[in-house]
Amino acid sequence: MKILLATTNEGKLRELKSILEDLGVELLSLRDMDRLFEVEEDKETFLENAIKKATFYANFYKLPVIAEDAGLEVDQLNGYPGVYSARFYSIDFGGKLENQNLSKDQKNNIKLLKLLEGEQNRKARYKTVVTYYDPTSGLGFWTEGVCEGTIAEKPEGTGGFGYDPIFIPQGYDMTMAQLPPEEKNKISHRGKAVRKLKDLLKCVLKGEKGEP
Ligand code: IMP
Repeated sequence: MKILLATTNEGKLRELKSILEDLGVELLSLRDMDRLFEVEEDKETFLENAIKKATFYANFYKLPVIAEDAGLEVDQLNGYPGVYSARFYSIDFGGKLENQNLSKDQKNNIKLLKLLEGEQNRKARYKTVVTYYDPTSGLGFWTEGVCEGTIAEKPEGTGGFGYDPIFIPQGYDMTMAQLPPEEKNKISHRGKAVRKLKDLLKCVLKGEKGEP
C-alpha cells in the first residue's frame, strides 16, 4: 500500500516520516509525483484547508493521502496568525518589513516579535489538523493536536522550522528550535495528531489484511 504525504515542506515531511515509517506502507511525498500542483490554503479553519488538500490530491493522484494544516495562535493577537501563519509577514498588520533578503520564516518571526514588543501576555499554541482520505474506499478521518507554549523575546536555536526559534513549549526553558527532533516529535502538535492518526490507520490496515 502507498500513502501520499501531501506536503513539500521538508521540515514537516521529516516529522511525518519519522512517526509513520514503521507503519509498513510506502510513504510518498508530493516531490515523488510527476506533476506538482499547489492547492491554495484559502479556507478559514485548519480542518477545511486540510480536507481540501487531502481530497484534491487523493482524487487527482488516485492514492490515499495524508494532508495537514497547522499554525500558531497567539492570545494577545486574538488567535492570529492562525491559518495565515505561513504568510503572516505579508499581511499588513501595522508596520511593513524592510529586510527583504530574509526567508519567509525569518520575516514571520521578526514581525511577530515586533507586534509583541513590551507585551506581558506571550501565551501561544501550535495547532494542527491531520486528515486521511482514501479515494477508492471513500474512507476519511481527521485528528487534531495542540502544543501550548509562549513566545520568546528573541529567536534561539536552529532546529525545526517556521516559528520554532521563537516558540517555547510549556514546561521547557528553551525554544522548540533548540530541542532535538525526537523531543519535538514527542511534544509537538503534529506529533500528537499524527500518532492519533497512525492508531486509526493501523485499524484500517488490519481490516484490509482481514485481521480481527
Ligand atoms: P501550513 O499551512 O500547514 O504549511 O503551515 C503554516 C505555517 O505554520 C508554517 O509555514 C509555519 O510558519 C507554521 N508552522 C506550522 N507547524 C509548525 C511547526 O511545527 N513549527 C513551526 N512553525 C510551524
